[in-house]
Amino acid sequence: MKIGFFDSGIGGMTVLHQALRLLPNEDYIFYADTLHVPYGEKPKEEVREYIFNAVDFMANQGIKALVIACNTATSIAVDDLRQKYDFPILGIEPAVKPAVQSCKGKRKKVLVLATNLTLREEKFHNLVKSIDHHDIVESLPLPGLVQFAENFEFREEIVVPYLKERLSLFDLKQYGTIVLGCTHFPYFENSIKKIFPEEVDIISGSIGTAKNLKRILEARNQINNGTGNILFFKSGHKVDDNETLSKYNQFFGMLDRICSLKNGELNQQEKSKSINY
Ligand code: DGL
Repeated sequence: MKIGFFDSGIGGMTVLHQALRLLPNEDYIFYADTLHVPYGEKPKEEVREYIFNAVDFMANQGIKALVIACNTATSIAVDDLRQKYDFPILGIEPAVKPAVQSCKGKRKKVLVLATNLTLREEKFHNLVKSIDHHDIVESLPLPGLVQFAENFEFREEIVVPYLKERLSLFDLKQYGTIVLGCTHFPYFENSIKKIFPEEVDIISGSIGTAKNLKRILEARNQINNGTGNILFFKSGHKVDDNETLSKYNQFFGMLDRICSLKNGELNQQEKSKSINY
């Protein structure tokens, strides 16, 4: 059986990309609710309905596990989804805990970047309250990055001025860790890195979620020997046109480059190429 991945849009591919590294022999369904993106700017009840419709659709395809590869959807629906379906459901939430731990000794602050809806939700406030005993966590919604990613707009000359404007009132030297609390944001990691001092860490929950998925499948004896095949759906319709599929491939290529850059695997020539997606 396949593993389902769900997001409002192409952000979820940043989590799927990590899962493919850890579980390359699984088969996947990736569902992007592109008709209704952005979730982060819509009323909670409306978004809940979209999420349940999408997950019903995926459940009907027959999946052995579901990854809600969207912080916004996780924060408003993961508990209720787990009541309804009997396959394991994994969510993703802003990686506040590791960020606070790594900043504590450094006398630095944590900045969580996410959607408006995620940052407004009780789940996020409870998470911060349970971890942030020294008031070092701050947050900022960046809805523009979701739109940029959906429009395939990654040019630094467009993205960096947007980020500078949104961050103009922040003292950037104060931050030790930036948490990417929206799965659309890792595409912009290089632009974000440009704005903050060099030693800042940028983290997201995607590796942790992929590791959890592997652990759960192993515990249930459900590791596959498939082909790493991915079926893509957009709001209930199978994606089979070559233009969209090749765009998706480009997203994976970009994520490969971002990962290699982060892990120091690129030489100088490859590094300069990676700036122009
Ligand atoms: N990718 C989503 C997240 O992680 C939400 C983007 C949106 O639809 O606003 O929160």
